[in-house]
Amino acid sequence: MSVKKVATNQPDFFQFSEENLNKVKKIIKKYPEKKQASALMPLLFLVQKQNENWIPLVAMKYLAKMLAIPYIQVYEVATFYSMYNLSPVGKYFFQICTTTPCMIRGAYKLVEACKEKISPNENELSKDKSCSWMEVECLGACVNAPMMQINDDYYEDLDKGKTLKIIDQILKGETPKPGSYRGRLNSEPENNRKTLIEIKNA
Ligand code: FES
Repeated sequence: MSVKKVATNQPDFFQFSEENLNKVKKIIKKYPEKKQASALMPLLFLVQKQNENWIPLVAMKYLAKMLAIPYIQVYEVATFYSMYNLSPVGKYFFQICTTTPCMIRGAYKLVEACKEKISPNENELSKDKSCSWMEVECLGACVNAPMMQINDDYYEDLDKGKTLKIIDQILKGETPKPGSYRGRLNSEPENNRKTLIEIKNA
């Protein structure tokens, strides 16, 4: 289960950079007139990208004003989705899926690896402050369970040993290859197809 904590230490000020303000205009234009509230999710994501991977409360108020919607509406969306971080996370942010398909395929072994190598508790920075981890709900890669997301990349078909190795590589400043760690291409079946075998290139 994912636990979201709003940071105790909050900055007093947030505003988009010039570059991001240009992106904001383009994002808002994608939605019909008077429906600019629909731009909230991409704008929250943009705040997170600009603000070292987390969204402060002052930025939620800033977005509420920008989109002319109540602050609580922004807060509800930001606290609902696990893709939004409400407190500082590491430069390398590990999200471990522990929803049922991943759980029955050993997701808690991945959690153990994070506890050993990163920090004993979720949402806590590693000693060198480069990594943090948290449990999240389904990330949509169930067929390659168990899996985890590190920043924008998915690491799939994992076990504890493979997860420990990936974390070690990251702590050494290396970039482990994303994708399946059982050698599958995307989510192809292992040991060839079992169905539709009569259809070429199915
Ligand atoms: S249950 Fe883990 S990705 Fe869907």
